[in-house]
Amino acid sequence: MEDKKRLFSAIQPSGILTLGNYLGALRNFRLLQDDYEGIFSIADLHSLTVRQDPAVLRKNTYELAALYIACGIDPERSILFVQSHVSAHAELSWILNTICYPGELSRMTQFKEKSRAHEDNVNMGLMDYPVLMAADILLYQADLVPVGADQKQHLELSRDLAIRFNNRYGETFTVPEAFIGKTAAKIMSLADPLKKMSKSDANLNGFISIDDDKDAIVRKFKRAVTDSENEIVLREDKPGISNLLNIYCAVTSKSLAEAEKEFEGKGYGDFKLKVGEAVAEVIDPIRIEKNKLLQNKDYIDELLKSGAERAEKIAYKTLNKVYKKVGLVPRKRG
Ligand code: TRP
Repeated sequence: MEDKKRLFSAIQPSGILTLGNYLGALRNFRLLQDDYEGIFSIADLHSLTVRQDPAVLRKNTYELAALYIACGIDPERSILFVQSHVSAHAELSWILNTICYPGELSRMTQFKEKSRAHEDNVNMGLMDYPVLMAADILLYQADLVPVGADQKQHLELSRDLAIRFNNRYGETFTVPEAFIGKTAAKIMSLADPLKKMSKSDANLNGFISIDDDKDAIVRKFKRAVTDSENEIVLREDKPGISNLLNIYCAVTSKSLAEAEKEFEGKGYGDFKLKVGEAVAEVIDPIRIEKNKLLQNKDYIDELLKSGAERAEKIAYKTLNKVYKKVGLVPRKRG
């Protein structure tokens, strides 16, 4: 019998993923599969809340599937699937909408930020986004949800909705906990180390994309903004050097003390080169493997098909329970 706790997470297929996404999410997912029953989704329905080019969205969905696998998600042990392939996500979000209040959604930080960023397209889906996310999580009775800081508020809403539903209709949903990874060091922009590393950075030198090759990675690290001293130590007044040290430790699994010792007396130029090479050593094989997988769409389709079938079994068990609790008459079949 499977007695491992269940873990659910999802990533949107909306374009470039960065070194920050890898260190903050994908790398942890790979490690967590050993201790948890992992369910990983490609949140394509969430991506529709901002305008998408249909052809690009389709391409990005395959890219993300390949990336999950290239990063070590084992599609046999874990479940990997596309959110829109399991229609229970949309169905449960309707039910959850009936116990969620507009005020809870309009005060979400991300909704406010995205409304500002997409003034011409503040659609209902953008506001309802956290309810769909709650449906994602609650359908699988997930115990744990690894999320970044920006998703904590949404996870809080998932918990509130689970508790509210359970109180109103009786025990139905597991109330999920946020899982904050160990290596939580924030990865900052290489061009402005006071800002988070982001794919939407206008300065392309600020972030490392999973699609950067070795030369591009090394070049970006060589240009990383530092300071005018020459000491390689982690210190608040040295955000650039501190960020590079954090990145170096994250990709090499060395401790900070080890890293500081290694670079004692070395120049910034040498240091930046070493960090760039260490990052390339991790990212390059992933990019190559991802691109190799993308040559074989049939294989990816097959994996996603079986992932959806496995996910669906769990999801519909929950959805049927929910429909029954709220008083919907079950459809007779056969
Ligand atoms: N909103 C998440 C993000 O952009 C992606 C996501 C969708 C998610 N559904 C989820 C994450 C369920 C955790 C659990 O990062």
